[in-house]
Amino acid sequence: MHNNIIVNTDIVEGKISKHIYGQFAEHLGRCIYEGLWVGEDSPIPNTKGIRNDVVAALKKLQIPVLRWPGGCFADEYHWKDGVGPKESRKRMVNTHWGGVVENNHFGTHEFFDLCELLGAEPYICGNLGSGTVQEMSEWVEYMTFDGESPMANWRRENGREKPWKLKYFGVGNENWGCGGNMRAEYYTDEYRRYQTYVRNYGDNKLYKIAGGPNVDDYHWMEVLMREAAHLMDGVSLHNYTVPGSFAQKKSATAFDESDWFETMEKSLYMDTLITRHTAIMDQYDPEKRVGLIVDEWGTWFLVEPGTNPGFLYQQNTLRDALVAALHFHIFHKHCDRVHMANIAQMVNVLQAMVLTEGSQMLLTPTYHVFEMFKVHQDAEALAVSIESDSYQFGGKRLPKVSASASKQAGGRVHVSLCNIDPGDGASVDLVIRGLAGLGTMTGRVLTASEMQAHNTFEQPDNVSPAEFDAWEIDGDRLRVQLPAMSVVVLELQP
Ligand code: AHR
Repeated sequence: MHNNIIVNTDIVEGKISKHIYGQFAEHLGRCIYEGLWVGEDSPIPNTKGIRNDVVAALKKLQIPVLRWPGGCFADEYHWKDGVGPKESRKRMVNTHWGGVVENNHFGTHEFFDLCELLGAEPYICGNLGSGTVQEMSEWVEYMTFDGESPMANWRRENGREKPWKLKYFGVGNENWGCGGNMRAEYYTDEYRRYQTYVRNYGDNKLYKIAGGPNVDDYHWMEVLMREAAHLMDGVSLHNYTVPGSFAQKKSATAFDESDWFETMEKSLYMDTLITRHTAIMDQYDPEKRVGLIVDEWGTWFLVEPGTNPGFLYQQNTLRDALVAALHFHIFHKHCDRVHMANIAQMVNVLQAMVLTEGSQMLLTPTYHVFEMFKVHQDAEALAVSIESDSYQFGGKRLPKVSASASKQAGGRVHVSLCNIDPGDGASVDLVIRGLAGLGTMTGRVLTASEMQAHNTFEQPDNVSPAEFDAWEIDGDRLRVQLPAMSVVVLELQP
């Protein structure tokens, strides 16, 4: 059996926005506190309270954009409680996530410090669910107004003279659920009202993101686009990969092939979702001006045994790596509509890049996919045709091989491939059309001998990228041997 892939280096289908490789950090469990913020007095080495080891690791991912402060937390967050002297900041209960006390030590100034350290653009999600129009409006004034005004003056008193540059601003989060249990019609009217007061000050031009549908709520997308497309730049979509169900989640590490298959199947469903939501968006925005912002995606499993169920701390295996690679291939395919995506979440929560325990830190298999795939950021998406064998399990079939290719400004071509079959390698005939010659080719692979392979603090390199050269040239084609359950990135320097 064979898999045939043709990459047309002379047919450009669009640009893969680097923002597809975005991240999300919420005040949830140990994401912000412990994972990112340890405070200036911590024995853990830090810069302005932000841990150096985690920042150094994350910088290697070239994180383009970081969404904050939530998630569900965003619609309970009152930003004024998180500025000014730390000792006098108001404390609150984080009712969504474990009922713990939030001391507000990580607020607006600390978030912008973090973005600066990471070299990431900030994406702020405002509180529409329980906050006022005035509160949202004043937050934007506080962050972005350069002149003389109550909020800009308060920012200066709090130590920041110049306004920050802020582009991405979300008007609420999951307002169909934790953000207020609203109906599409009600939220749409609220969106129209709130966004009116989300002002552009000076040359700071905001990109306004409306709170979009939950998974396949096409009615929500229809109403929002019909009534408010002209008042937004982007609309969000949330969809998690949950084997089992939200009510009966499954383990992140103790799983069998049927769970593996279900996870791959549910990951591929992202393609269907984007296709259907895009069809609705196309009716109201045929020019594709409004971006689909998939600002929460990733796996959601049972928490690690013995950890707080409200903290959503889960391990991350080779299976998560395949999930990430499949999602990126889907986002690339829809790059004309998907302008941004933010995996949930960056540290210690859900499908994280990094896990920490005290002063220890490890990189997850998902981290490695983000690192291997960063070569696609802002590159031209190339036309790829794929004929794939099937991966069969329990009477069902999925395409075994998926692929995506892009070209960087300097002409370097990258082809990423995955084989989701955990029991069998895949032989791929790869034709690279449109190049005078293949030039120099190198490769990297992420794989393991077990589906459940993951990194631990004791063995942090169980799953990490290795050099890959399992190919041979056969006439005008490359015959590439993908290992079972693997992610491969090939680089061609013509
Ligand atoms: O990422 C965890 C939670 O999932 C977010 O807070 C919420 O928006 C979503 O339901």
